[in-house]
Amino acid sequence: MTTAIPYADWPARSAGWVDDIVDVFREVAESDEFILKSRVERLEAEIARRTGAAHAVAVAGGTGALSVILAALGIGEGDEVVTPAFSFVSTASTVALRGARPIFADVEYGTALLDPAAAGAAVTGRTRAVLPAYLFADSPRMADFTALAARHGLHVVEDSAVALGAEVDGRPAGRHGVAGVYSFFPAKPAGGIGDGGMIVTDDDDLARTARMLRNHGQPAGKRFHHELLGFNCRMDELTAGFLLRKLPHLDELLRRRRAIAEIYEEGLRPLAPALLPPRAGFEGRAVYTYVVRVQERDALRAHLAEQGVETAVYYPRPLHLQPAFAHLGHREGDFPVAERLSREALALPLHPDMAPGAAERVVDAVRRFHEAGR
Ligand SMILES: Cc1ncc(COP(=O)(O)O)c(C=O)c1O
Repeated sequence: MTTAIPYADWPARSAGWVDDIVDVFREVAESDEFILKSRVERLEAEIARRTGAAHAVAVAGGTGALSVILAALGIGEGDEVVTPAFSFVSTASTVALRGARPIFADVEYGTALLDPAAAGAAVTGRTRAVLPAYLFADSPRMADFTALAARHGLHVVEDSAVALGAEVDGRPAGRHGVAGVYSFFPAKPAGGIGDGGMIVTDDDDLARTARMLRNHGQPAGKRFHHELLGFNCRMDELTAGFLLRKLPHLDELLRRRRAIAEIYEEGLRPLAPALLPPRAGFEGRAVYTYVVRVQERDALRAHLAEQGVETAVYYPRPLHLQPAFAHLGHREGDFPVAERLSREALALPLHPDMAPGAAERVVDAVRRFHEAGR
């Protein structure tokens, strides 16, 4: 059968943007600017204005943003970075690729985010930074992480890739530590038309170094002079040009995401404890995905598929059990909450262009599963 309610529904999500995309392609094609030029500069200025950051440095993606920050901080061999056992891979792969050691800590069951107590217990004399991630529809306990970092003299780096537009304690996501990142991967609330990312920081040295590192370690205006060993991690003008058109709509897009989350919240909360929706109270949060926790995850997923509702699993395997991190020597049982979430987490369709009534239909389909006592 055809999927009545697709998970992402790209045609619906792109429909309103086609003219902007075509216009941007024409504009860039008729210019002599392709990479790190005027549109990128304007996008950096816009993100700095929006977040209150002294510096915004555009890069090729959220992953690149993390890599550049860690390199700019001089994190490398012999260093440790405390980071969640349950996240997207970049939160930890960027640490390991520097030759440093990701020190996994468990997450909180209610939010799937780094547990401050577990993070604190993981700090050693070699720890240089703590790297919490924003996931799904929630934000880490940033006050606890900044306090932890202050106690131990650590950097806080925020993996706020999914959270542009969110606030924690009245301060924008990404603005709580030495630096934060945003991803413009198309699926993100501030998604673009390809890969793209941004670093925000108030630290002048870090910003200057990041600008060099993103472009082969070259200082501005000094082509083929390589001050540092850098990356090719640059943003192109097509991406920046499109994002300049999209960002003015971000608050409205986030409002629509929160409205869908509220429909899910109201309809699904009565199913607790069999099914646990995300923490309620979406104001100030950037709802990226709506992930419920349910013991019968795979059966519910199959039931929803039968009803034409497509779902996704974020993330089916915690980081400490990924083959890529086998060298860290972890085994099953090391981070029980992360492992439990990888068995129970199920993402329901949520995007700003969902058809009217679609979220209610998803709720009905979920409720039917539970009413049937399955
Ligand atoms: C939590 C988190 N961190 C980092 C990233 C990486 O961003 P990008 O895909 O732009 O490299 C993602 C993207 O999915 C993410 O979800």
